[in-house]
Amino acid sequence: MNRLSLLPGGRSLATLGAVILGSIALTLVGCKKEVSGGAGAAPGSEPIRVGEYASLHGSEATFGQSSHNGTVIAVEEINAAGGVLGRKIELITDDNQSKSGESATIVKKFISRDKVVAVLGEVASGRSLEAAPICQTNHIPMVSPSSTNPDVTATGDYIFRVCFTDPFQGRLLAEFARKSLKATKVALLTDVASAYSAGLAKYFREPFEKNGGQVVIEQKYTGKDKDFRAQLTAIKAANVSAIVVPGYYTEVGLIVAQARQLGINVPIFGGDGWEAPELIEIAGAQNLENTFYSTHFSPEVKNPLIEKFVAAYKTKFGQVPDAMAALGYDSAVVLFDAIQRAGSTEGPKIRDALAATKDYPCLTGKTTLDAERNATKSAVIITVKDGKFKYLETVEP
Ligand code: PHE
Repeated sequence: MNRLSLLPGGRSLATLGAVILGSIALTLVGCKKEVSGGAGAAPGSEPIRVGEYASLHGSEATFGQSSHNGTVIAVEEINAAGGVLGRKIELITDDNQSKSGESATIVKKFISRDKVVAVLGEVASGRSLEAAPICQTNHIPMVSPSSTNPDVTATGDYIFRVCFTDPFQGRLLAEFARKSLKATKVALLTDVASAYSAGLAKYFREPFEKNGGQVVIEQKYTGKDKDFRAQLTAIKAANVSAIVVPGYYTEVGLIVAQARQLGINVPIFGGDGWEAPELIEIAGAQNLENTFYSTHFSPEVKNPLIEKFVAAYKTKFGQVPDAMAALGYDSAVVLFDAIQRAGSTEGPKIRDALAATKDYPCLTGKTTLDAERNATKSAVIITVKDGKFKYLETVEP
């Protein structure tokens, strides 16, 4: 596990996973209080610790990195403005390397060793589902930036998200297929190892079939597969007018490239899991013509909040922020606002304040958390033209 601590001064400590390095990390992290408060500082002026578990390496690394970068900007902004409850925020980040089985361990350590008051994470629903029960049992609020599977927040009353959910995303993709692509017969290609993919496939199929569409064939794969030609050959024989791939970019990129090699030229589309600059590198720009995906944010949308964030992000990271970066930022600002309103760092009080979040101005739209601890947000549809992502339209809930 790689561990990173963003000190209130904006400095960060990065350490690599080996046991020895891990213990150095602990020592360094142990020192950080001195940086903000100095020896003898009153306990109330110590930084407020927030844990962030993220996929900073591995198959979904761009998800974790973008989301983390957005969160870092939010932490730096709040600390520059004096912090929360008069105390600085200290962000402790740990990398699950996009692997299953790591997130629960990380969050247990955040709670027992680091004494975090709240947890931010994850992007991928499957990994949020691993950590959420630990936060719930310990009454530590968790805010997922961008896990869209409904089961994540259904874990319990301490688990929140600041993005839309897959029943909404599935519905909008079903409508997009019928109205914009005029597709009535489609194929589904689902990652059965991913809670996100299996869920989104289901939430697409239901409204699509209810409105007269037909999923003629559903083929399956497992995350990290590299060869999809058998499934694509079966799909080709089924003569569909579009293919839905509700997966993550690493596999989606290979699927799109292999489909085009097999002479499949129909539209291919999916959800927010496609969102990564790497998609273009993996699939090849040419192969991505006639593909579409829904996501949470486009830096092309004009609004002062977005313009300010895009500028700050470009200055700090030399890149244009994507949806995960925006949601990483949003998850952090919503949490900080809740801690401030709670007037306390106690879990149950932060929980109650989070639950009362209403119309908070986020990059991805005004955020109100409903009784299921979900946010209702609009979505954007993106296509790829000449090797560049291009904003097509905004879909209201
Ligand atoms: N929504 C995806 C999930 O729940 C993760 C994701 C979010 C991917 C945003 C891309 C952009 O697993």
